[in-house]
Amino acid sequence: MQQAWSYQHAIQHAQSQLNHESAKLEAEILLCHLLKISRAQLYTWPERELTDQQAKAFFDLVGQRQQGQPIAYLTGQREFWGLNLHVNPNTLIPRADTETLVDIALHKAALYSQPELTLLDLGTGSGAIALALASELPQAEIHAIDYSNAALATAQSNAQQLNLAIQFYQGSWFEPVNHHKFDIIVSNPPYIESTDPHLSQGDLRFEPSQALASGTDGLDDLRVIISQAQTYLASKGWLMVEHGYNQALSVADLFKQSGYQAIELITDLAGQPRVTIGQKP
Ligand SMILES: C[S@@+](CC[C@H](N)C(=O)[O-])C[C@H]1O[C@@H](n2cnc3c(N)ncnc32)[C@H](O)[C@@H]1O
Repeated sequence: MQQAWSYQHAIQHAQSQLNHESAKLEAEILLCHLLKISRAQLYTWPERELTDQQAKAFFDLVGQRQQGQPIAYLTGQREFWGLNLHVNPNTLIPRADTETLVDIALHKAALYSQPELTLLDLGTGSGAIALALASELPQAEIHAIDYSNAALATAQSNAQQLNLAIQFYQGSWFEPVNHHKFDIIVSNPPYIESTDPHLSQGDLRFEPSQALASGTDGLDDLRVIISQAQTYLASKGWLMVEHGYNQALSVADLFKQSGYQAIELITDLAGQPRVTIGQKP
């Protein structure tokens, strides 16, 4: 006879299997995802029993988490800027730190009159940044590019589900928008050194490498974006890029070499250097 698993018993068992600081929370997230219930419902009915099929599916998810699969890939979703986004192994999992980039973009966008405002998100992945901007700037024209067709398909389905209008293009950096000019260009490009040991640790192991690594110093893509953006910015337009906390000086140099003005470093909520912005003269 199969063992009967109450919600509470299943959570306790999964917690001891996962055995780390946030094991209980993760077990609860996985069970709620599987049963399509809220955590409040889980606490209300701790004695309810899983069917054999549900128990098998739950411990299968817990097993995958034990192997290191990110929670966001197991549930297929991640919240960003209050939006519920679908994610999968073709897309980077949006990070809370990236909301700093959205914040500064909105700050500069407020200086423009909206119907004329044109923005571009380079390397859109799940569409996180472009969708956050579209949710706040409903009248602006928003474009987004990614090299990965699979990531773009996810971004497009997120836009559809959220009913937000974005023009998506496949291609490398500015290639698909050759004749456009933008008031604001934002990008969270790959910026990790290709030899960084973190790439083979934690969640990063499961995320697409073309979304993460960028040459030996991590700056290959930032070099291209910063030098080429001048051509695609309207006069007095802004480029804003996310980068590693230890890349701030190099990135500021790249902005200077390309002739930007009003170059500024912005720190994230943890106080780490996170975003550099510059204006086309
Ligand atoms: C760090 S991820 C950022 C994803 C998303 N913007 C976010 O913040 O969650 C970088 C993205 O750049 C895309 N990418 C990498 N090389 C590219 C290229 N040459 N042209 C366009 N997109 C590229 C990757 O596919 C990936 O989606």
